[in-house]
Amino acid sequence: MEVTFRIRRYNPEIPGKDKPYWQEFTLKDVEPTDRVLEMLHRIKWEQDGTLAFRRSCAHGICGSDAMRINGRNRLACKVLVKELGARIQVEPILGLPVLKDLIVDMEPFFAHYRQVMPYFVNNSPLPADGRERLQSPEDREKFDDTTKCILCACCTTSCPSFWANGSYVGPAAIVQAHRFIFDSRDQAWQDRLDILAEPNGVWRCRTIFNCTPACPRDIEVTRAIGEVKLAIRGGKRDGIIQVSQIETH
Ligand code: SF4
Ligand code: F3S
Ligand code: FES
Repeated sequence: MEVTFRIRRYNPEIPGKDKPYWQEFTLKDVEPTDRVLEMLHRIKWEQDGTLAFRRSCAHGICGSDAMRINGRNRLACKVLVKELGARIQVEPILGLPVLKDLIVDMEPFFAHYRQVMPYFVNNSPLPADGRERLQSPEDREKFDDTTKCILCACCTTSCPSFWANGSYVGPAAIVQAHRFIFDSRDQAWQDRLDILAEPNGVWRCRTIFNCTPACPRDIEVTRAIGEVKLAIRGGKRDGIIQVSQIETH
């Protein structure tokens, strides 16, 4: 099949291309099962070597090729042409500064990530028998979903609250905090809840739900945010909730 790609371009170093503009490329002999990332490679290698985009693993693991494809945040390496049709529009994810073409500056995103102490804290001595700190399957289950995050930013950059105020830590940072807050072995959960109770923390989430369908790892992002909200309100980390319980604040 023949597919036309409409791509948002921008190159601050080239006069005439230093304002965002759209450019179309037509590819022939495209298979319905081809992935968008492969097609971007074809455009770059066969038609325009200046096209800039990030990618690494090509298998949905590294999280580096988040893009807005036909109006929705996705990983270019996971979405197939047959899911999109013969006209495919590709633009950078929203809410972060564009550096060149489809490449955005991820530093504000990672600054929010670092804010929530995204690492395990336990200063107690290890068990005397030399074994690891044990955890029941039930306790492990509480944060199983949020361990899957690959920090692709699809959620945060689909959130209107983040678009309106880049100081909001955003759903990805909350998902990362959730992974440690609900780990029964972690000792810094209260510190993280305090950080997320600040004005740019979880209460900037208006339960808009854009983040959950945007997640390529199928993490229930809004549910995780709701659980953190409940933990802050209850002053403890025992809440595992139904989506219907999530409140708008
Ligand atoms: Fe990406 Fe999902 Fe993690 Fe958000 S929660 S950064 S969408 S993997
Ligand atoms: Fe934004 Fe998701 Fe909340 S889209 S407002 S973080 S539910
Ligand atoms: Fe690694 Fe797509 S290139 S997730």
